[in-house]
Amino acid sequence: MKEKIAKIIEQAKLAIEQSDTLALINNVKVKFLGKNGELTQLLRGMKDVPQEERPMVGKYVNEARDVITQLTEEKTKQLAQAEIDEKMMKESVDITLDGKKTERGSLHPCTLVANEIVEIFTSLGFTLGQGPEIELDKFCFQMLNIPPDHPARDMQDTFYITDDILLRTHTSSVQARTMLNTKPPIRIICPGKVYRPDDDATHSPMFQQIEGLVVDEKVTLCDLKGLLETFAKRLFDSNTKVRFRPSFFPFTEPSVEVDLTCSVCHGKGCRICKGTGWIEILGAGVVNPKVLENCSIDSKKYKGLAFGMGVERVAMIKYGIPDMRILFENDVRFLKDFK
Ligand code: PHE
Repeated sequence: MKEKIAKIIEQAKLAIEQSDTLALINNVKVKFLGKNGELTQLLRGMKDVPQEERPMVGKYVNEARDVITQLTEEKTKQLAQAEIDEKMMKESVDITLDGKKTERGSLHPCTLVANEIVEIFTSLGFTLGQGPEIELDKFCFQMLNIPPDHPARDMQDTFYITDDILLRTHTSSVQARTMLNTKPPIRIICPGKVYRPDDDATHSPMFQQIEGLVVDEKVTLCDLKGLLETFAKRLFDSNTKVRFRPSFFPFTEPSVEVDLTCSVCHGKGCRICKGTGWIEILGAGVVNPKVLENCSIDSKKYKGLAFGMGVERVAMIKYGIPDMRILFENDVRFLKDFK
């Protein structure tokens, strides 16, 4: 019996040695240690072993089981590790290769410039004002002292939805809404889209404006000039000068067109400023007392300053963009320059 067991151990050792996959080593396990395996068979044959030899035979069988179990476990571990190593080798990645690139977007030049303008004014104590793009005639025109026969109210110049409802033609409508709802002092800056039925090289049916409004006691045209000069120096450079030219808006009196020294030639005269050294940038004025009264603000006690500028125009000047249509084409090759 002892020899028989020793022989089984030898056979098992050889089989384990020759197994070079996990499947094969598993077969060996079944063959020698399984329910119908060689050692179990031996134990089943115990009844034929003489009584006094049984303990000894039992001991040999147990020892054999321990040896075979240990050897198969070792080999299983070894093969499993080898399998992992091989997998790692096969699946290894070259971390120096270029990855898949995801394109990153960027802000539109108009958004960049609008953000910058709003930031300059908020740093001066202004808060953000807002109003709807679909507006009542009342806020866009009537409250702002724009009479019914004013050309701005013509069908050719305004998108009317009904007789009373329209797409706002300027952000000045936010002035009227704010003055009606807020007690002075008021300092607001209002960026937003506006609409007019124009479409050519220098006009688009939708464009963006930024409106500014100050209502307080004792504010004058000089404050307006100082404010706009501070703004212009921050947006362009500290040598920028501001010039007021008389103009007319029904909602401001006096009204002015505001020019800045050309940011390209600094006043010498170039192609951009058409040789004048100046570039028109916005419309402004002292709020017409009639508008204050329309909004129930005492025009004897309070004065207002207002200004409005086109964002596309400012972006064109600031970034030297020659044609406004480029701003609406959204060609990524152009937009990429603003990352
Ligand atoms: N709303 C005027 C425009 O669209 C600009 C403006 C705003 C002028 C405020 C004066 C004061 O042209």
